[in-house]
Amino acid sequence: MSTNLSLRELLRSSTLPQSEARLLLAHVLENHYQLPRSALLSRDEMELSANALADWKLLETKRLNGEPIAYLVGKKGFHNIELQVAPGVLIPRPETELLVEIGLREITRLGGKAQLLDLGTGSGAIALAIASAAPNSQILATDQSPEALVIARSNTKYLNLESQVQFIQGSWYEAIGKDATFDLILSNPPYIEKSDPHLKQGDLRFEPINALTDQADGLSCLIAIISGAKLHLNPKGLIAVEHGFDQSDDVVELMRSAGLGDIQTHLDLAGHRRVVSGRK
Ligand SMILES: C[S@@+](CC[C@H](N)C(=O)[O-])C[C@H]1O[C@@H](n2cnc3c(N)ncnc32)[C@H](O)[C@@H]1O
Repeated sequence: MSTNLSLRELLRSSTLPQSEARLLLAHVLENHYQLPRSALLSRDEMELSANALADWKLLETKRLNGEPIAYLVGKKGFHNIELQVAPGVLIPRPETELLVEIGLREITRLGGKAQLLDLGTGSGAIALAIASAAPNSQILATDQSPEALVIARSNTKYLNLESQVQFIQGSWYEAIGKDATFDLILSNPPYIEKSDPHLKQGDLRFEPINALTDQADGLSCLIAIISGAKLHLNPKGLIAVEHGFDQSDDVVELMRSAGLGDIQTHLDLAGHRRVVSGRK
């Protein structure tokens, strides 16, 4: 049974922004017919089956209610990889690719071989993008959330990176051995202040709250991560952390107080100071 509405007509009648409608309809075509996204154009006269139409309507309604596209299609591109995502993990952001780039630069400086720690790995985004681009790196990735680790492990298997990335559950450095040291520590911790109104707006409403905010002033996780870094870095080892657009000065000061040197601020593609790095 078909719906009598062609793909072209479905897109035209949708109240979603066209780019979003196309993404969701392409997802339906892939799931129900194993068709590529290009079928939206090449087969625009096609009519959906009743089941496929019901899926499309559900996705459209959920998106109109604000659910993030990445959760609806179950995946998100990040750096050089594609990650599965679900409501238990933060949707990886393009600005976090800056941390990956800083990490890869440091690994190159070390001759391609390095031991890394990714604190608060979520979907595994940072750890897996680095593992995929630097095949001689070894990465330990942690998260406090068991749900996130299920998704991160599944991504690791899917990307065939199990020989390079291990996961461990726990709060920041408590998750790892007290004598464990690394060439590089990377982290994108929860850094939104608890009263920030953005937490109640847009896509953020659907993401895990503990991935977004420290339930305090936004700096408490950064403090824990930076203050423990020296103990867990090899000599000359590098730590780089992502932070909010207005937290750079505070993070620089935290690195200074922690006795780190060679402190540098890094700009994201939008020109915001987004990462601070320091060296033991
Ligand atoms: C902003 S998300 C970053 C996720 C991922 N690294 C990324 O960039 O997409 C912060 C992550 O830190 C984790 N987290 C929150 N508190 C933590 C803690 N005390 N110890 C370890 N991980 C924690 C959250 O579960 C979440 O996965």
